[in-house]
Amino acid sequence: MSITSICCIGAGYVGGPTMAVIAHKCPHIKVTVVDLNEERIARWNDPNVENIPVYEPGLSEIVAQARGKNLFFSTQVDEAIDEAQMIFISVNTPTKTYGAGKGMAADLKYIELCARQIARVATTDKIVVEKSTLPVRTAEAIKNILDNTGNGVQFQILSNPEFLAEGTAVEDLLAPDRVLIGGGTDEAGQIAIKKLVEVYANWVPSHQILTTNLWSSELSKLTANAFLAQRVSSINAISELCEKTGANVNEVAKAIGMDSRIGPKFLKASVGFGGSCFQKDILNLVYIAKSFGLQEVADYWEQVIIMNDHQKNRFARKIVSTLYNTVSGKKITFLGWAFKKDTNDTRESAAIYVADDLLNEQAQIAVYDPKVSARQIQSDLNYLETRLPEENDKAIESCNDPYEACKNAHAIAILTEWDEFKSYDWQRIYDAMLKPAFVFDGRNLLDADKMKEIGFLYQGIGS
Ligand code: NAD
Ligand code: UDX
Repeated sequence: MSITSICCIGAGYVGGPTMAVIAHKCPHIKVTVVDLNEERIARWNDPNVENIPVYEPGLSEIVAQARGKNLFFSTQVDEAIDEAQMIFISVNTPTKTYGAGKGMAADLKYIELCARQIARVATTDKIVVEKSTLPVRTAEAIKNILDNTGNGVQFQILSNPEFLAEGTAVEDLLAPDRVLIGGGTDEAGQIAIKKLVEVYANWVPSHQILTTNLWSSELSKLTANAFLAQRVSSINAISELCEKTGANVNEVAKAIGMDSRIGPKFLKASVGFGGSCFQKDILNLVYIAKSFGLQEVADYWEQVIIMNDHQKNRFARKIVSTLYNTVSGKKITFLGWAFKKDTNDTRESAAIYVADDLLNEQAQIAVYDPKVSARQIQSDLNYLETRLPEENDKAIESCNDPYEACKNAHAIAILTEWDEFKSYDWQRIYDAMLKPAFVFDGRNLLDADKMKEIGFLYQGIGS
């Protein structure tokens, strides 16, 4: 029997877009996305589809088409679990902030709560799919909870990690490089795998649907993110060397990326990677390696994070040293706060850490980001607990207009590579700034020669 009813626990950046695309591509499957967060669900159900809580190009159109037909958003978690044949767990798995493994291990409390809730509620057999990114062997723990606290129904656990990147989530979901499904090697496990393969086969070519054992699938997700982040830290390490030697990191990246063994992607030097995944997943990998006594393996991957912290920190230090070793009382404008373009997500954004460093130097920061709210910016800074919320409030202002944000600034720092920054009237911005007018381009987004022609003292990354 094919799957006709799916529930997804967690209506976040993964659960929302992933389920919207499944509903869109599988009109015969009823998809219900549930979450404890009432405000989030209310926004997914907002009659004005532009108000959905996740900004992703193309997402509101897909939600508008499927919502109310075979795509539903609800806070009624128990009912949705009971009704579904297949349950995706897509809740957050942040880095632990307490106890053993604090600052490294993944906090699995939300996962465990889901497993216990499924076990309590389920009255028919279920396939439970790990969509969240999890440490290798988590499926074993989930299975133990389900089998020991359930109502005697049969559970199959699958691992189906999500590889979408924010900002291109819809594109990535519609045409994934591959879909990975891990499951049990026994007959029941293979039947469960087949049912999930059938769901994806509605739009993904079968040769791109890869099936493995559970542990390979769980570990592949952490490994993929570690490899991607490692490329960014590698090119960022070279960017610092470029700045000392007269080499240009864009030229180096192009030259090495044309080697088909290396490839051109993920070689863009930047102010440092951000996002909810890279740091968390590498820390988790490091923790797992350490817990198996593999110190060299742990140290190897930890260096990717150390390099990234260094890159963010040295960007802030460069601003201070260039501005005659003091930014106290000086207005510095941030263009961009999101961790990359085309998303409203700010988790672990480099902007937060650069701002924190500059606020320690008593800078006055003005921020313009096309998709991030003032409230979010304040909450990101307050979360660091470096200073009192009132102090953050005084030292940072959020602007609705980029030209207003840049007025009377000593320097502009580009933190996110939003396309619109390229088409600004940079002469107008220059005219309204204090002189000398500095631009620190943390994304190598702007044309260096044109900026210098206008009169800016322009510095990119790695040149
Ligand atoms: P998120 O924080 O945006 O969403 C998680 C949602 O789960 C929240 O809305 C939260 O309220 C809800 N939730 C938590 N516990 C719950 C419970 N017991 N019952 C109901 N709802 C509950 O997180 P996200 O970015 O969507 O990430 C989810 C998972 O996917 C993580 O494991 C992450 O590592 C992984 N992942 C994320 C991305 C990404 O780009 N964001 C990509 C691939 C994988
Ligand atoms: C990442 C993975 O790409 C995705 O497969 C996984 O499912 C979730 O984690 P995401 O964090 O959404 O996706 O965005 P990604 O495009 O990977 O960018 C991560 C960070 O690296 C961003 O801050 C980005 O600006 C930065 N980056 C990326 C660079 O600085 N240079 C690059 O060349 C690429």
